[in-house]
Amino acid sequence: MKRFLFCILIPLALCASPKRALVAGGAGFLGSHLCDRLIDQGYEVLCIDNLYTGSIRNIEHLMNHPRFSFLELDISHPLPGDIAADEIFNLACPASPIRYQKSPVQTIRTCVLGTMHLLELASRCKAKIFQASTSEVYGDPLEHPQKESYWGNVNPIGIRACYDEGKRCAETLCFDYHREFGVAIKVARIFNTYGPRMRPDDGRVISNFIVQALNEDPITIYGKGEQTRSFCYVSDLIEAILKFMASPEDFTGPVNLGNPSERTMLDLAQKVIAFTGSKSPLVFRPLLKTIRKCGFPIFLSPKKHSIGRRSYLSTKGCKRRSNTFKMRLFTKKQVNNSRLKLMKDFYLSYCERKKLTSLLAEISWTHHL
Ligand SMILES: NC(=O)c1ccc[n+]([C@@H]2O[C@H](COP(=O)([O-])OP(=O)(O)OC[C@H]3O[C@@H](n4cnc5c(N)ncnc54)[C@H](O)[C@@H]3O)[C@@H](O)[C@H]2O)c1
Repeated sequence: MKRFLFCILIPLALCASPKRALVAGGAGFLGSHLCDRLIDQGYEVLCIDNLYTGSIRNIEHLMNHPRFSFLELDISHPLPGDIAADEIFNLACPASPIRYQKSPVQTIRTCVLGTMHLLELASRCKAKIFQASTSEVYGDPLEHPQKESYWGNVNPIGIRACYDEGKRCAETLCFDYHREFGVAIKVARIFNTYGPRMRPDDGRVISNFIVQALNEDPITIYGKGEQTRSFCYVSDLIEAILKFMASPEDFTGPVNLGNPSERTMLDLAQKVIAFTGSKSPLVFRPLLKTIRKCGFPIFLSPKKHSIGRRSYLSTKGCKRRSNTFKMRLFTKKQVNNSRLKLMKDFYLSYCERKKLTSLLAEISWTHHL
């Protein structure tokens, strides 16, 4: 009998078609890393992206892969009826304040209509859906650090609202589709993440400081630079997303994903200057109303679930990676793009300043070692 089952089950398992993953926003910074990992794990990956902030360059190494396909699509428009998936990852949305504030209406359309279209698809295909939410749903938090149970302090009419409120509404939609239609959801609130394929011109603090330091430009600090942020290395985040996605169905989130250690902006700027050997002066400007004072996660993940903080921010893994990885913010291909001379300057400078590798590694890991 055993032998009979063996003969039947093994060939069936070998013939089983790979799981189909749809990655919305897959040509972006995080999305492209996620596509890489899913391909490595044997998934068939359909990447959809309108290339607003993403780039084909981030995924061109996957373009000829037999299990990878790309569709240029805007998720705020209804999706083609023939798309199907077993797992959906919604990372489509500009994450950089400069970019999302440039088209606020499109940003909120992406967050709300786009998420709704993907939830409809999930409902139709009985697929599990991951929603990339953000620490920005806590707004300018009155609680510090922020637990997932904290409801936030968000200005609904400010210039960041298209993103903050858009993401909050996207979370609402996920939970309503879950309650009303039984859609399996995984909602993660992502905190600042950095790594290769980040754009240097997107206005996020790590890339800003590094570019300023390498150009020997003044580094702007708002207020006394006491605002804090946490920074997570991209591969850790992707690992956490995959573990979350594989966790039991009743673990819907929302869950904070990020590095639980925090840094002040002043500390970060000083570290960047020290490690780059830059002569950039620090310039102090008045604190803008839109700048949050603090932001780092703590985690509620119950022990029974495997994505507890320890498992995805494993110290061994961190140590190994921080020793071996080549921390490059930008790939060579991006450097070739003459439109973005800044990138080239940065990359070249960066190559000569390898110490930056350990700085960026240190920012992420120190508190775990
Ligand atoms: N990187 C971070 O530190 C961070 C922090 C918190 C949350 N997040 C969230 O993670 C997700 C990915 O962030 P990222 O840093 O990779 O940003 P990114 O801008 O690099 O990637 C977003 C991708 O979505 C695409 N996109 C935007 N609007 C779209 C639309 N309407 N239809 C289809 N594609 C669209 C863009 O072209 C881009 O490729 C975002 O949802 C963001 O809100 C990121």
